[in-house]
Amino acid sequence: MALFVRKLVGEMAEQAEQSGLRRVLGPWQLTALGVGAIIGAGIFSATGTAIAGGPGHLGAGPGLMLSYVGVAVACGFAALCYAEFASMIPEAGSAYTYAYATLGELIAWIIGWDLIIEYAVGNIAVAVSWSGYFQELMRGFGLAFPEWLASDYLTASQGAHAVQAALAQHVPVASLPVEVRGAADAFAAAPRLLGIPVIFNLPAILIVAAITWVLVRGVRESAWFNTAMVVVKLGFLLLFLAIGTAYVRPENWHPFMPHGLKGVWVGASLIFFAYIGFDAVSTAAEESRNPKKDMPFAIIASLIITTILYVAVTAVLTGLVPWQALGTAEPLATAFVNRGMNISAGLISFGAIVATTSVLLVFQLGQPRIFYSMARDGLLPPWAARIHPRYHTPHVTTILTGIFVAGFAAVAPIGAVIELTNIGTLFAFILVAIGIIVLRWREPGRTRPFRTPLVPLVPALAVLSCLGLALGLPWVTWVRFAVWLVIGLVIYFMYGRKHSVLQRRLRGETVQTSIPPGPAH
Ligand code: ALA
Repeated sequence: MALFVRKLVGEMAEQAEQSGLRRVLGPWQLTALGVGAIIGAGIFSATGTAIAGGPGHLGAGPGLMLSYVGVAVACGFAALCYAEFASMIPEAGSAYTYAYATLGELIAWIIGWDLIIEYAVGNIAVAVSWSGYFQELMRGFGLAFPEWLASDYLTASQGAHAVQAALAQHVPVASLPVEVRGAADAFAAAPRLLGIPVIFNLPAILIVAAITWVLVRGVRESAWFNTAMVVVKLGFLLLFLAIGTAYVRPENWHPFMPHGLKGVWVGASLIFFAYIGFDAVSTAAEESRNPKKDMPFAIIASLIITTILYVAVTAVLTGLVPWQALGTAEPLATAFVNRGMNISAGLISFGAIVATTSVLLVFQLGQPRIFYSMARDGLLPPWAARIHPRYHTPHVTTILTGIFVAGFAAVAPIGAVIELTNIGTLFAFILVAIGIIVLRWREPGRTRPFRTPLVPLVPALAVLSCLGLALGLPWVTWVRFAVWLVIGLVIYFMYGRKHSVLQRRLRGETVQTSIPPGPAH
């Protein structure tokens, strides 16, 4: 049973006590934290293909409004589970740490490995979304990036094939969507290296490099910065609603569900991405003044606020133009451009850039801290927990995360990355919900500043709804996820199992950890 050795919750709570964080956050500050981490590429980008459909999946059409409500309910169940853990084990590392206490080391490793998908892979999608809106904004100023420097090979070659097919069937190329023609142009114009077109997303690389630099130098997550971000994000979405509402054509809402409930379900499994980040609220439990009351309040409030906004934005978006026209990575700008409202498109692009930049920061900050927790436990090599002597940041893992995110953001199509992020995050939510049931049964007497209501019903509903969403994703995403997990298991059995602090203690070794205390934020 050594594989399932567990960390003691009491020991963890003690560690957290020593962390020196102050209980300063009230209910609305926690809510702002949630809203700040949630609104980003999901609403600004993923909404487009979820409405219009894309390679291998159906579009939800205006019915995506229903998808947004359904996913919020599923996230609510999962969030209530996160909150119990977060108030009980207030330590860096999130779901990874919770699993170590309840389901044991192997599952904890799997979750930690899986969280790379939520944080680092998620950020690949956010960086590509950032790049899309950045290009849109530049176009507004009459500056166009060469297409081959702002796309990815797969999208470009698919565009080239679509144009060829149209020519072969004597369909006018002008009737193809503008982004398909743009992708084909990128393919044609790209310089060749050994006969292969060189196509990559330069703006995505540059923004990730900039964020990485800022984080290595050390950024203070000040309440002021977060509040400013929240105000800007909300402000631009409200601006979209204010301008867009006047131009809505209700006939665009018919048919409401062009592919029936199946389209709504598939759409839901894609826009799940838009809600990722609410778990950030739960990780602030140790800084909350009154976690028992304020945690559920903040989690539910941030979900309700974002749901209302998301549904309203989807309603206006699908009212502006026919749903089929929205299949781009910048649907909010696309809708305005289609209606000839270029200045509004520029404003929204600017808002999207600000929103996605803040999400990039939050996730790029979180990933190295999860690596830090795993290295402190001996599951990753000690260098992964190295702290910069001057900046007090985990610089090695921050830079590695930056290279990973930038490298893939340069070449990956956004749709596939969003799908992979969703399946990975849903899987983590499922394990957390199971963890709640397991720990209630194993350690019923433990102090729980916040208790998930109606256990085991709520965790069970979290498991079922997350599984339902994961089943809406294409099979190829499941295969990619399975490959990722297998790689993780190989690493665990080759490294973690031998070096884990708990395993070495079990073998009777005296373990000196030379890992420094946690990184500065
Ligand atoms: N929810 C975050 C976003 O939409 C990940 O960008």
